[in-house]
Amino acid sequence: MSLVRACTLAEVPSGEALAVDVEEYTLALTRDGDAVLAIQDLCSHAAVALSEGDVEAGPDGACEIECWLHGSRFDMRSGAPSGLPATSPVATFRTEVRDEDGQQVVYVDVATTLNGVRPD
Ligand code: FES
Repeated sequence: MSLVRACTLAEVPSGEALAVDVEEYTLALTRDGDAVLAIQDLCSHAAVALSEGDVEAGPDGACEIECWLHGSRFDMRSGAPSGLPATSPVATFRTEVRDEDGQQVVYVDVATTLNGVRPD
């Protein structure tokens, strides 16, 4: 496990995603209730930034991000595509919020992915 500082919790939006560079990866972060979800900021269909799309509630309470280019949707918890044309999942990462010097800071574990998908 290798937790790396990503941003402050106050910077992470709801209903959209924040692009953050964490070590060699760019991640898309969003809030899901009290949780912070992190997915690689790279659509598995044609490699554009997912963070430029909207984040919306999906079926069964899923938190989905929609690719702005062709409309694929991905469950931000599992990374699984839930709408075509994408058919491959996107890597998701574990996050942790820590109190640090009076503010809440988001850390991401970039050493392993939650869903076993190898990030590009
Ligand atoms: S590039 Fe994302 S759906 Fe095509």
